This record gives sequence, C-alpha cells and structure tokens, in this order.
Amino acid sequence: MSSIIELGTVLLPRVRWDAGVELRKARMADVEPIYTLIKYWAERGLMLVRSHNHLYENLRDFFVLEDEDGQIVGSGALHLLWHDIAEVRGLAIHPDRQGQGLGRWLALAAEREAKDLGVPQIFAWTLQVKFFTALGYGVTTRENLPPKVFQECSACPFYDNCREIGVTKVLDPQRAFKHPVR
Ligand SMILES: CC(C)(COP(=O)(O)OP(=O)(O)OC[C@H]1O[C@@H](n2cnc3c(N)ncnc32)[C@H](O)[C@@H]1OP(=O)(O)O)[C@@H](O)C(=O)NCCC(=O)NCCS
Repeated sequence: MSSIIELGTVLLPRVRWDAGVELRKARMADVEPIYTLIKYWAERGLMLVRSHNHLYENLRDFFVLEDEDGQIVGSGALHLLWHDIAEVRGLAIHPDRQGQGLGRWLALAAEREAKDLGVPQIFAWTLQVKFFTALGYGVTTRENLPPKVFQECSACPFYDNCREIGVTKVLDPQRAFKHPVR
C-alpha cells in the first residue's frame, strides 16, 4: 500500500506513524462509527448531531482516521457551499485520542482538499475557537459571511440560542468572498 494518500492532486501522508492512525476518505461502512462519534459530542453540546440520512448524502465530504484495530477515531468533512466558500464540519476525535494532533491533521486534510479544488476560503461554525485560530483561522462576524453559510440554521435546534462562532481562513485573497458594499 502506498504511504501517500491522494486527494485529487493533493498528497498527504496516509499514516501518522507516531499515532498509528490512517487517514483516508470515508466509505459506506464508516457511517455508523461517524454517527456514533458525532452523537457523542453532540450530546455534550459541542456539535450538531448529524442524521444517518445526512451522513449518507454527504459521505463523500468526509475523511476518517482509522486506528490499527480498525476503529474509527476521528472524522472531519469539507462541504462545498458556493464557488468562493466551503465549510469545514463534522470534526470529531474519539475521547480517548484527544490532544494528539489528530484534529489538526483532519482539519489540514480538509484545507488541502479545498486548495486542491480551488476554493478560496474555508470557514467553520464552532465552540472550539482556539483550536481553529491555532490553525490560522480568524474569528469573523456574521455580517462578513455570505448567506450560504446560514443555510442549515433554520433547521438547527439552537436557532434561537446559537452560541457557535464563525471562524474563517482565506486561502486565496483575490477570489475569497467579499461582502458587497452596503
Ligand atoms: C476540537 C477537536 C476536533 C480537536 O482535536 P484534537 O485532536 O484534540 O486537537 P489537536 O491535538 O489536533 O490540537 C491542535 C491544536 O489545537 C489546540 N486545541 C485543541 N483543542 C483545543 C481546545 N478545545 N481549546 C483550545 N485549544 C485546543 C491544541 O492545543 C493544539 O495546539 P498546539 O499544537 O499549539 O498544542 C477535538 O478536541 C474534538 O473532537 N472535540 C469535540 C468535538 C468538537 O468540539 N468538534 C469541533 C466541532 S467544530
């Protein structure tokens, strides 16, 4: 097996040797463990729960981390929203594998895929602002985000009580979203 994972033209190391974990695109058999991982954190108020239906429909967005026992210990996704912006979502690391650089690795995979696709800006809704700022994201205001990023808000159980903060990273300043002058 090659030691390099190909994401389009993007190459990333397939395995973090020190962590004994393989990074790869998700497959159908991963839906249940991704669902369980996200549900675990959603029940603790850190993420939005994702239905099986959502995971099936969006499976091609997802990366997973698989350990040497075949257990899925991390998930993360890049979801394209419009020509100039994509969302990093579904980032979840197994509770026993926190703080080992795995979240960073998944976020980097999503970022590299965005670059590969020519997406000029990525963003996330999150309560983990420091995690994202450590990766070069900046906190943004809702007014500075395009309408597309709010498309799921109306179906969100926290619609009236949203605590999530928008963080964004510009990959190509020339082509990144610019709010029309009001
Ligand atoms: C947030 C999460 C994905 C981070 O993954 P992780 O593997 O634990 O984090 P990493 O080890 O890759 O950390 C990367 C950097 O972010 C920092 N960091 C990670 N989580 C952090 C947190 N909650 N607060 C502050 N800093 C954090 C780390 O210290 C590290 O910085 P360093 O390299 O300077 O030490 C993980 O903790 C998680 O699954 N949390 C629960 C679900 C969640 O909140 N998901 C985010 C939804 S947007």
